[in-house]
Amino acid sequence: MTTLFSPLKLRGITFKNRIAVSPMSQYRAIEGKANDWHMVHLGRFAMGGAGLVYAEATAVEADGRRTHGDLGLWEDDQVDGLLSITSFLSQEGTIPGVQLSHAGRKASERRPWHGEKPVDEEDLSIRGEAPWKAIAPSAITYADGWPDPEVMSEADIERVIASFGDAARRSKEAGFRIVEVYAAHGFLVHQFLSPIANRRTDKWGGNAENRRRFAIEVARSIRANWPEEYPLVFRLSATDWLEGGVEIEDTIMTAQALKAEGVDMIDCSTGGIAGRERPRRMTIEQGFQVPFAAQVREEADVSTMAVGLLWDAKICEEIIAKGEADMIALARELLDDPNWPLHAAATLDADHDHNMWPEESGWWLMKRERLMSKLGLR
Ligand SMILES: Cc1cc2nc3c(=O)[nH]c(=O)nc-3n(C[C@H](O)[C@H](O)[C@H](O)COP(=O)(O)O)c2cc1C
Repeated sequence: MTTLFSPLKLRGITFKNRIAVSPMSQYRAIEGKANDWHMVHLGRFAMGGAGLVYAEATAVEADGRRTHGDLGLWEDDQVDGLLSITSFLSQEGTIPGVQLSHAGRKASERRPWHGEKPVDEEDLSIRGEAPWKAIAPSAITYADGWPDPEVMSEADIERVIASFGDAARRSKEAGFRIVEVYAAHGFLVHQFLSPIANRRTDKWGGNAENRRRFAIEVARSIRANWPEEYPLVFRLSATDWLEGGVEIEDTIMTAQALKAEGVDMIDCSTGGIAGRERPRRMTIEQGFQVPFAAQVREEADVSTMAVGLLWDAKICEEIIAKGEADMIALARELLDDPNWPLHAAATLDADHDHNMWPEESGWWLMKRERLMSKLGLR
């Protein structure tokens, strides 16, 4: 039986288990460069036993950052700061991954804790951070209070597609072994996919096939620059939860088209296309997005990753055992407990004597466990 702790092979890469650290933006980079913060943030998840550790949304061009603090791979000199991180992750037995992104009309936003709104003159005076002009498929604002984005010209589109390929090449140089494209949550690739943000009448919009073209070209650009033996994943918003938006049937078609371009797995999230208010159709409960991962896996015949409000090891085990997804991604639960995979292994009886732990702590914990049970303390 396939379990949470059975290995997964995608192309030439084997993940030791089915647990992924979902990309989590830290907004701590300076000019897109990684630093010690990113090492510790990501390193603790490798020590905690995850099979795949994704670095956060990493911009493929400077203007494609969401905030001033986003990581970037738009320049060669952004590679070095990531190398020591990926080398540590690999050494600790996890696969380092990166999520390549362009924020499109969601660019030039404040860090969440500075207020979830566009950067303005106040940021310039307080933090020396100036706003910049966002680009998008159409001149439709993300939400009330956001500026109109600039409509992307054909040259803009070609440039951004090429920048995904260049960033993929740098990802390889930086030691990553899996790339995920951020095509969800209202970021640029999702903006092209969704009729809510894409009202173009040229070959990049107007019907589903045209709206999909940008995602396909991004996949092609990456595949041309990314080793054949390394997997490529797309994070999609399986539904916009809104009338007139992306529905699961569209996503299945998109997944099939991406698979034909060498995409190996679909990371199934939802929502985020238009503002932060929760759409009425969206009901939230543990694993509420899992049915989308299951449907895409079944109907598009592609591997999927399930994500969103998952924390119970037994439920995660069931998702994998039932074949609803090939991997589970966690974000906030891992912020709360970076050792969640190791604790899940104990809960599921998949680890004995703390063997999965790094020896430096596992040896001590095993001794303590034996002592405590001998003394009847636990
Ligand atoms: C701190 C934080 C930062 C996030 N940054 C990203 C990101 O860079 N890219 C992305 O696709 N999702 C991002 N997300 C969303 C998560 O990857 C995940 O999809 C979401 O939190 C649901 O999973 P959870 O319920 O396990 O937290 C972020 C979430 C958190 C908590």
